[in-house]
Amino acid sequence: MYYSLHVEVPEEAAELLQAVIDGTNPLGLEIRDHTLKPPPGAPPLKPGCVELKVYYEGAHEAEEAQHQVRAELPEAEPRVAPVEEEDWSETWKKHIRSVRVGRIWVGPSWQVEKAGDAPVHIVIDPGMAFGTGDHPTTEMCLAELDLELPCRPGASVLDVGTGSGVLAIAARKLGAGRVVGNDVDPVAVQIARENAEKNAVPELELTEKPLERLGGTFDLVVANIFANVLCQLAPRLAARTAKDGLLLLTGILDTQAEEVQQAFEREGMKLQARRASGEWVLLTFDNRASA
Ligand SMILES: C[S@@+](CC[C@H](N)C(=O)[O-])C[C@H]1O[C@@H](n2cnc3c(N)ncnc32)[C@H](O)[C@@H]1O
Repeated sequence: MYYSLHVEVPEEAAELLQAVIDGTNPLGLEIRDHTLKPPPGAPPLKPGCVELKVYYEGAHEAEEAQHQVRAELPEAEPRVAPVEEEDWSETWKKHIRSVRVGRIWVGPSWQVEKAGDAPVHIVIDPGMAFGTGDHPTTEMCLAELDLELPCRPGASVLDVGTGSGVLAIAARKLGAGRVVGNDVDPVAVQIARENAEKNAVPELELTEKPLERLGGTFDLVVANIFANVLCQLAPRLAARTAKDGLLLLTGILDTQAEEVQQAFEREGMKLQARRASGEWVLLTFDNRASA
């Protein structure tokens, strides 16, 4: 018998919640946001909230995690429930979808036969880092990389908030030169390194270093992080974007796009394009204004 812990929190608290969960030795987790249909019988999410369903080996681990979540997020109402024992790995697999975006196929190792004739294959098995490729924000970034990199062979790329490393791996496989990915989460960096090895691009520079400690500027900077974090990082993201370079920003809900646009315009960046997928938006800025 497994046990699950359900917690619904406002999006702004999702990172803190994930940090607490990371320290509780979970077997795995599912994140539900407004882009996903609720599973049959599940109540809809409250507006602006995300739900984490975290799995544990035993009741004790789940209850201990519940206690830690309550201590860090007193407003959250974490619930523990037993999970009917079925083949865990098979259940998990049902939720994973491979995607084809332009020349790129991204999917888990048990679906590689679905890659077909895609020239770029990226295998990402689900784990404790965000980025199996099938989130609309990740898909939009992949589409932009697929579009931009052929015009910029050997371009340097910085992937801020690399998660599983999926975008950094895609950039390198699409012909980028130097590729750096950073993340505040050390677990994500470790997973990104493993994914880079598995995908035969061990040369990627994957690091926990914050933006201000990364050397140089980059022809393409991509960041798929929540809007409030992007606004805080605006001066540092602009400083890392080379003259004539492009900055791709997502993780932004359409209601937040204007605020993000203004934050980057204050840094001298010029909005070049806006792309949307459902309620998610990707903003492309160029640094020509300051050239
Ligand atoms: C939505 S995931 C994106 C993962 C992947 N790049 C993708 O597009 O699928 C956001 C990632 O940003 C990381 N992150 C959050 N704040 C950050 C910051 N200030 N600097 C770097 N990474 C950050 C999180 O740990 C998380 O792994």
